Amino acid sequence: MNQSTMNLFSLEGKTILITGCASGIGKEIAIGVAGAGANVVCLDIADLTATAEEIKKSGNRSMFLHVDVSDSNAIDKAWDQIIEEMGSVDVLFNNAGIQYRAPIDEFPIEKFDAIMNVNFKSAFMLSKKVASYFLQQKIKGKIINTTSLYSTFGGFNVTAYTSAKHAMLGLTRALSNELAPHGICVNSITPGYITTAVTKALWSDESKSSEILKRIPIGRWGNPEDLVGAAIFLASHASDYVTGVAIPIDGGFTAR
Ligand SMILES: NC(=O)c1ccc[n+]([C@@H]2O[C@H](COP(=O)([O-])OP(=O)(O)OC[C@H]3O[C@@H](n4cnc5c(N)ncnc54)[C@H](O)[C@@H]3O)[C@@H](O)[C@H]2O)c1
Repeated sequence: MNQSTMNLFSLEGKTILITGCASGIGKEIAIGVAGAGANVVCLDIADLTATAEEIKKSGNRSMFLHVDVSDSNAIDKAWDQIIEEMGSVDVLFNNAGIQYRAPIDEFPIEKFDAIMNVNFKSAFMLSKKVASYFLQQKIKGKIINTTSLYSTFGGFNVTAYTSAKHAMLGLTRALSNELAPHGICVNSITPGYITTAVTKALWSDESKSSEILKRIPIGRWGNPEDLVGAAIFLASHASDYVTGVAIPIDGGFTAR
């Protein structure tokens, strides 16, 4: 690859704020964008030590905050700390998510609230904060959301998750329209079936896993590293004319 093509994907000098990166997809994306030169700010309710150890190897600036992203006060406090320490934010990646499976007649309302708040409301709150900052500072920044196959399909026994992920796709499109005139791009990545904690109930059950595999043309489950390339693309100048889209990274599942 020649230098100008490499520069298209470089994240040097950019600060990326990413949620839900103690494990799974967010962890690999945080490590991956650091590898592409970004300064990285990680927010998670879980222990970020393992992520921090990897990111620090890049030598870039980084920050790791223990934050419940469904808590608006915690977000306000974290935001002030981030701007004070990092000086700027160029990319927001709303990735934190949780899952709960139950039929509708047994679905606890508190689980519904938790899923809506972590998987969707947190993204609204952080996008509002970051978009206001981009507009004030005239930064042509990027917002990236993690959507899901359940942003399009209904699924079974996942009513709260499906509702939240449909909302996340709606947020991506609505924000894209509103912010595009300011040069701010808003997109999402749509992982297919990826082996992480969220899908453990599926990949650890041989019969469920093989049912799913039959529908994936590439013939394997995805792993968190499979999402890194699209994340770098959407965070970098390479995607400056891309907004309002959800990129499926699903081994061909949705094309089938
Ligand atoms: N694994 C898949 O197949 C798949 C498919 C489609 C979408 N997704 C989405 O990808 C995203 C990442 O999930 P994953 O599969 O990597 O699972 P994961 O459980 O490994 O990662 C989720 C992360 O979110 C964090 N988190 C949970 N609640 C939080 C809170 N209140 N505040 C801050 N952080 C919180 C967790 O601690 C964890 O680090 C989620 O939005 C998920 O819905 C996953």
